[in-house]
Amino acid sequence: MIKQEDFFKKLVAHAREYGYVYPSSDIYDGMSAVYDYGPYGVELKNNIRQYWWQSMVQFHENIVGLDSAIFMHPTIWKASGHVDAFNDPLIDNKESKKRYRADVLIEDYVSKVEAKVEKEAQKAAKRFGDAFDRAQFEETHPRVSEYRRQISEITNRMNTSLENNDLADVKRLIEELEIACPVSGSRNWTDVRQFNLMFSTKMGSLSQDDDSAVVYLRPETAQGIFVNFLNVLKSSRMKVPFGIAQVGKAFRNEIVARQFIFRMREFEQMEMQYFVKPGSEMEWYDYWKQKRMEWHLSLGIDAGKFRYHDHEKLSHYANAATDIEFLFPFGFKELEGIHSRTDFDLSAHQQFSGKKMQYFDPELNSSYVPYVVETSIGLDRMFLAILSDAYQEEKLEDGSVRTVLRIPPKLAPVKAAVLPLVKKDGLPEKAREVMDVLKTQFHCQYDEKDAIGRRYRRQDAIGTPFAITIDHQTLSENSVTLRERDSMKQQRVDIESLTTVIHQNF
Ligand code: GAP
Repeated sequence: MIKQEDFFKKLVAHAREYGYVYPSSDIYDGMSAVYDYGPYGVELKNNIRQYWWQSMVQFHENIVGLDSAIFMHPTIWKASGHVDAFNDPLIDNKESKKRYRADVLIEDYVSKVEAKVEKEAQKAAKRFGDAFDRAQFEETHPRVSEYRRQISEITNRMNTSLENNDLADVKRLIEELEIACPVSGSRNWTDVRQFNLMFSTKMGSLSQDDDSAVVYLRPETAQGIFVNFLNVLKSSRMKVPFGIAQVGKAFRNEIVARQFIFRMREFEQMEMQYFVKPGSEMEWYDYWKQKRMEWHLSLGIDAGKFRYHDHEKLSHYANAATDIEFLFPFGFKELEGIHSRTDFDLSAHQQFSGKKMQYFDPELNSSYVPYVVETSIGLDRMFLAILSDAYQEEKLEDGSVRTVLRIPPKLAPVKAAVLPLVKKDGLPEKAREVMDVLKTQFHCQYDEKDAIGRRYRRQDAIGTPFAITIDHQTLSENSVTLRERDSMKQQRVDIESLTTVIHQNF
């Protein structure tokens, strides 16, 4: 068992060593919260993207795709509320000069109180065994109910202050809770101020101080879908309810940029906006909440690593929202958001553009602005979820340790490795023949360097589900050894059946 604090470090190092993720601009010492994907990383990312696209677009006749531009008319971001409200509350520590998100400092404090509740609950569960009733325990245990009261008081106060833009009270709360800077230990804080997360640049050859030329790098892909609602409606003959799906880059000038690819400044989103009849949005919200959880579970990852977190504090555009959280190496954190966005976006674009963002419903014989249910997942975050779930160090019977990535086979970058046992006796030539057939079906890798055991380890570390060994028996019997990554079991398979046997596992 690897200690939790070491696990994440090892994962990041492994991702780099085996060509999954590199820091961006590495030879210039990297850039904070920007990463590049290496040869295996790009394959895994493509496979996740494709798996999502298939489940959303290919499997739903009423969902179509879109690829809108990153640059959009600046008024879009005024209409969406991002110019005025896409802010993080910032605070600086005067001693360490470190900058923090004020809400994250408070949330971290709350997490520590949560951890105390958890510890008490675990102690009691051990004491009472099967008779333990968690809900009753939390209500009746004096210390735990006091912790719960504190958590709800702090959270409510923070949410109210943020909603009212009362930043002075957010600072007061930090001071009252005696939150210290994690770096300097000091409680000497600046005032809290709002910081807009959008990156901006200038378009065209206008002078640098001409504000009319300001354009933003999109902070979400969703707005590209909303502003194309009429185009898609007219050109695809969709009827409400219908959805538009898009995968693409988004950019946010994140202040707290840490935890590897969990929070990046340039990242990719996979979003789907589902346009529904007003009044039916809760039904569809529940539908997509369930569907998206099913998608995650379909990958075979332990269901205990996922949970819903329903929002109490809603964004300016939502009337219901939940996160699907995943148990990352640093705890349960948001992986995907499902939001009932009402008609906020389409109505705002109708107002700002002067175009009618409406749907004529032939059954009602009238027009309305549809309501929207959104599913939004970060591709990079999903990548991290897969990678952290997959990484294992396993002690073998002979005492050695193998590092293996148990990536779900359908997402694995390389599906099969073709390995001639030795580099002579016609085995490489035979292996090449096998490779030429298999590579038309799956992404395969040919490897003849080093002893077979080392080659197996290399493929385990990459996460390749199958290794195919070509040996002397192959020449006489036309069969190979098929080794399975997770069990390390080997079986003899006829070359003709190889494609079918491998296919059965995806
Ligand atoms: N259109 C709605 C929207 O953008 P969000 O909760 O801000 O909602 C949706 O983002 C998803 O995008 C998140 O659940 C997360 O997976 C991903 N995401 C957001 N910010 C990110 C960042 N800085 N780095 C990586 N992924 C991010």
